Amino acid sequence: MTQALNTQANTSKANLAGKTALVTGGSRGIGAAIARKLATDGAAVAITYSSSAQQAEQLVADIRSTGGKALAIRADAQDADAVKQAVAKTVAEFGGLDILVNNAGALVAGGIADISMEDYQRLIAVNVTGVFVASQEAQRHMKEGGRIINIGSVNSDYVPVPGLSLYALTKGAVASFTRGLARDLGARGITVNNVQPGPVDTEMNPANGAFADTMRSYMATGKYGTGTQIASLVAYLASEDAAFITGANLKADGGFDA
Ligand SMILES: NC(=O)c1ccc[n+]([C@@H]2O[C@H](COP(=O)([O-])OP(=O)(O)OC[C@H]3O[C@@H](n4cnc5c(N)ncnc54)[C@H](OP(=O)(O)O)[C@@H]3O)[C@@H](O)[C@H]2O)c1
Repeated sequence: MTQALNTQANTSKANLAGKTALVTGGSRGIGAAIARKLATDGAAVAITYSSSAQQAEQLVADIRSTGGKALAIRADAQDADAVKQAVAKTVAEFGGLDILVNNAGALVAGGIADISMEDYQRLIAVNVTGVFVASQEAQRHMKEGGRIINIGSVNSDYVPVPGLSLYALTKGAVASFTRGLARDLGARGITVNNVQPGPVDTEMNPANGAFADTMRSYMATGKYGTGTQIASLVAYLASEDAAFITGANLKADGGFDA
């Protein structure tokens, strides 16, 4: 039994051995779970953050303490130069870039009449421009087998409550960008996919928050997801096994839009 478990662990570890990854917004929530999973599967992992320095450094320390390679970079997704530098720093530190996970994201909720231009521009900058710039920069360094994995949202296709129009707009852009970019990069053997979570228990959308029961009422499972569950799908898409999947918008949403 022990031997079986070891074999399984080794196979899993070997999955991304020798690969390098950059996870934007990796200090907390879903991004942190993704960074941990990619590191567990053998990748050297850089993460970006905008303000959670302590959590980012803790995550790096945790990965290093298990023999992994990790790096935290302060880079606000709204700042194109900072995003470009984060890609350059990852390449300089790890010697290349195989996997980009565009996870950094924010949520502004509110009815159309209440959304300020400032909020509009900030959300576009983080959720859309940040994804575009990181992808453009990362693909320059990617070889055959490269992976770009976006973290969109089920809300790009299904918005069952008011107050999410701006957020849905940004995540719809991510879904469309995924399709187009898959076409741009397919001939180079680089895949581009979009993971679209439903409600996942994080600071952005806590399972005990004011809207949680409403969210649960739309889900087939009636239960929030975890960052770890999203990370499993991301790790699969990052692996060699997923080479035939590209341009896909894949829901992991507990049946939110079933
Ligand atoms: N939770 C859900 O129910 C859910 C559902 C669907 C999709 N998503 C998407 O999943 C992704 C992660 O969400 P989450 O729930 O894990 O959110 P979260 O708990 O709020 O964590 C967000 C992460 O992104 C980073 N971040 C935020 N703004 C940033 C910026 N301007 N520049 C760089 N990093 C930034 C944060 O780091 P700092 O603290 O350092 O800023 C943090 O690491 C987002 O794209 C979100 O839209 C979430």
